[in-house]
Amino acid sequence: MHPQTVAFTAGETGAWRILSCTAVTGPALGAAPRLAVTAASAAPEGVWTLTGVTSNTRYATRAEAATLAARQEGLGRPAATRAALIPIRKSAAWWALAQDERRAVFEERSHHTAIGLDYLPQVARRLHHCRDIGGPFDFLTWFEYAPADAEAFEHMVSRLRATEEWHYVEAEVDLRLERV
Ligand code: HEM
Repeated sequence: MHPQTVAFTAGETGAWRILSCTAVTGPALGAAPRLAVTAASAAPEGVWTLTGVTSNTRYATRAEAATLAARQEGLGRPAATRAALIPIRKSAAWWALAQDERRAVFEERSHHTAIGLDYLPQVARRLHHCRDIGGPFDFLTWFEYAPADAEAFEHMVSRLRATEEWHYVEAEVDLRLERV
């Protein structure tokens, strides 16, 4: 898919009400009532804006990509009135690893995709990269799900945070949102 530059702006406007905004590791982000998700060129004024770009995959194998494609649903489902935005920065130690070493941590040892697949198709997702465009994070991860799946979503997040991959996470903020 063609890369999309997406802006997440916390402020007074936007389709998502911010239910919580928690610093998990590292500094917090400022509080605001709403979050707007727009094209970067259309971002409103706000307390903060984080921008990321959708991209090609780095780690997924052909088999994993096929399983994901068969099971995942798209963003914007009417029943998916809850969302999570989780900005993440990984450490210098992570970025010093070679591609094959990062893949081994990510999947062979942390089972990131395998864990995530347990929650599809209920949770829809989109990954945005921002390491190469500056700013405080490397990734802006976005998820949408129905209220009935909120508990399962929290369970998935705890499973992922307990993995070896998360030893390399040095900044993480966690927002929960509800469609207005
Ligand atoms: C990357 C799947 C949930 C954070 C990825 C990738 C896959 C994936 C396949 C690698 C894409 C590539 O090959 O480049 C899933 C699935 C999930 C899920 C199926 C279930 C909904 C989560 C959650 C978080 C998260 C809840 C945050 C708490 C990340 C991050 C990356 C990533 C930060 C980028 C890692 C890197 O490139 O170093 N995910 N994920 N994911 N995911 Fe997830």
